This record gives sequence, C-alpha cells and structure tokens, in this order.
Amino acid sequence: MPTIRYEPDAKEIFVVEETILRDATIKNGIDLYKTFAKLMNCGGVGQCGTCVVEVLSGAESLSERTDAEERKLRNKPATYRLACQTLVLGDITVRTKPK
Ligand code: FES
Repeated sequence: MPTIRYEPDAKEIFVVEETILRDATIKNGIDLYKTFAKLMNCGGVGQCGTCVVEVLSGAESLSERTDAEERKLRNKPATYRLACQTLVLGDITVRTKPK
C-alpha cells in the first residue's frame, strides 16, 4: 500500500495503488489549492493547472506525464506534476502549492 508524504504539512497517508493523487489529497483534508483555485479549478480534468505539486521523492513511483501535463507544465521544473493527472504507484513525497 503506497504512502504519500506531504510537505509542508508533514502529513502522511496510505492509499490503494493507482489512486489519483488529487483525489487522495482532497479526501484526506490536505490543502492542495492556492486561495482562488479552491473555488476556481477544473474539477480534475487537467485543464486549469492549479493542482500542481512538486515531487520531492519517488517520481519513479508515479504514472507517466499525460498530454495535459506536458501542455500545462511546459515551463515548469520536471519535478512538477498535476495531481489530477497522476496515479500513485508507490511511496512518494510531494510539496503542495510550490512557488
Ligand atoms: S484540477 Fe485542474 S488541472 Fe488538475
């Protein structure tokens, strides 16, 4: 059962393999979105780019980047992912709301 660790919240949750990172994050009450994006996001269909997280460790334990991520994260570091497009396959550590 994969573990997701969150920074800066210092929280840790356990999920079923292939869980969508966004779904697990919201379900466990971890703040994923910046202020306005809490109300104004696309609902997890890869269109708004507001669910971005920085993967601090375990990038190899995530699904491949989707086409939506390639478009939305074109000018962002390779460690950034869209939580709504990312399946968790193993243990990871992520930073929510990266700068
Ligand atoms: S919630 Fe809109 S891109 Fe992830």
